[in-house]
Amino acid sequence: APVEKGNYAHYMQKEIFEQPIAVAQTLQSYVRPFEGEVALPTGDLDLATVGRVTIVACGTSFYAGMVAKYWIEQFARVPVDIDVASEFRYRQPVLEPGGLALFISQSGETADTLAALRHARSEQQRIAVVVNVPTSSMAREADLLLPTYAGPEIGVASTKAFTCQLAVLAALSANLARAKGRLSREEEQEIVQHLQEAPAALNAALGHDDDIASMAHLIAPARDVLYLGRGPDYPLALEGALKLKEISYIHAEGYAAGEMKHGPIALIDEAVPVIVLAPSGPLFEKTVSNMQEVRARGGKIVLISDAKGLEDAGEGCIATIEMPEVHPLIAPLVYAVPVQLLAYHVAVTKGTDVDQPRNLAKSVTVE
Ligand code: G6P
Repeated sequence: APVEKGNYAHYMQKEIFEQPIAVAQTLQSYVRPFEGEVALPTGDLDLATVGRVTIVACGTSFYAGMVAKYWIEQFARVPVDIDVASEFRYRQPVLEPGGLALFISQSGETADTLAALRHARSEQQRIAVVVNVPTSSMAREADLLLPTYAGPEIGVASTKAFTCQLAVLAALSANLARAKGRLSREEEQEIVQHLQEAPAALNAALGHDDDIASMAHLIAPARDVLYLGRGPDYPLALEGALKLKEISYIHAEGYAAGEMKHGPIALIDEAVPVIVLAPSGPLFEKTVSNMQEVRARGGKIVLISDAKGLEDAGEGCIATIEMPEVHPLIAPLVYAVPVQLLAYHVAVTKGTDVDQPRNLAKSVTVE
């Protein structure tokens, strides 16, 4: 049966709101909450023998891969290479036989990613695939198939598939770390516990939909918007900028907060809103100090943080968006919600076609 929009105005809006359930559904297959264990269907693929991971994807799926690089290197201490698929194949990457090549795709059909998978196979890589369509080409060609259980995603701009990819990738990172002897029982239990907290945290983030809708008019007239984040939340800045570009047609750039002073700070004036993603945690102070550099140059800041962070740094911003206070591990999942909602409401304010943006396709099956 065709998927209906129900009470929602757009598929994208519906899919944003489905995230707590989609992520919970996905986690069910990858964590055992009572045992405090992650459990991937690794079959005869022995993760202990993985010495390098190569991640390849496109678009939003690529940004999920960028977050995974932070996690895999932090938890498992296994080096990670990452490329967009269209670059991977033609740059003659050095792939040692027996490495793990990880492909991330909602559709499982993106031509560049599929071709990259086949290239990696020809270079004796073991192939892991995180995919939302279990009958897709990539799913069929995987050695290790790690499905997301987001359900059908209709809106062209990916939302729930992204947070579900992150849930799978967090579990994969922990499983790899355990296989490598890098994770104690207690640490594994903690990771599982934090992942289990994600659906409720996503729900809490969605609770700020009205606040975000009522500030969309501040962003809608902008010609350029800058998104800043650090560490595993840097890819979320890139994802926020991509979402805004895709559906509202406003030029946006995501930047590593600390890199801004090497170029984009020259763009800052009162006409360029700067969206800062700064969850409480080890990188908070650093991100906030970059934010102050923007403010000192007259930049208009929208700060996305938790109550503690907003109390410390929220003053002088044109708007703030409050997120629940969460463990840094799940911050990238939770902070996906406000950047999706912001793009959504700005697009609705501008009257663009949210579900079918111009020039874009849900699944790009040409190179
Ligand atoms: C298209 C879609 C994006 C998506 C990208 C990768 O450009 O419009 O939303 O992120 O393809 O798609 P995939 O199915 O491989 O995740």
